[in-house]
Amino acid sequence: MLTVGVLASGRGSNFQSIIDNIKSGYINAKIAVLITDNPKAYAIERARNNNIETLVLIPKNFPDRDSYYRHLADELKKRGVELVILAGFMRVVGKPLIDAFREKIMNIHPALLPSFPGLHGQRQALDYGVKIAGCTVHFVDEGVDTGPIIIQSAVPAYEDDTEDTLSERILKEEHGIFPLAVKLFAEGRIKVKGRKVFIESQREEAVITNPPHQKFSR
Ligand code: GAR
Repeated sequence: MLTVGVLASGRGSNFQSIIDNIKSGYINAKIAVLITDNPKAYAIERARNNNIETLVLIPKNFPDRDSYYRHLADELKKRGVELVILAGFMRVVGKPLIDAFREKIMNIHPALLPSFPGLHGQRQALDYGVKIAGCTVHFVDEGVDTGPIIIQSAVPAYEDDTEDTLSERILKEEHGIFPLAVKLFAEGRIKVKGRKVFIESQREEAVITNPPHQKFSR
């Protein structure tokens, strides 16, 4: 069974979706530890409710960035973690952790990468005026949201959307694709070749347009 470690900074709804999908049997894995950089993160409550060990590790208590991420890597390795999940971890991960878990760190980002990396992906998409928004699960490399893309999901962006309404629509998709990516990893169905991710026995034809073109009258 796959051993997972979760890093989260806040609300932790993605963390919860992983917990729920493990509990239901959809994902064959166990969560060894939650690590948070924020002592006020609601994710801590979720871990407590599910008997998941929690470590609160704050970067400013470490001499420098590298030693912080080296410490995180050690704590994860110590617990036999094989996959690290960034569930709303609001920091750019440092090299010592990436080196220790090459192509074994997954992040969820609330935009269709490579568009709108970094913070506030949903707001960036709205400000740009896109018609299709969405979310991306990707492996983490040294860049900001630049690693190989595993799964993406698209949602329409409406003219009267606010950051909140769009974020809510995207979040529902996050809670679908993140557990799916972890499931596929746990089943050994994900292969990475350079920038490209190959998922065994997977080919989807669906596409989303906004407005839906089949409903458009001329
Ligand atoms: C999610 O929307 C996630 O995609 C985003 O933060 C939110 C965390 O929500 N992550 C990023 O923006 C990373 N750059 P959650 O704490 O409820 O899972």
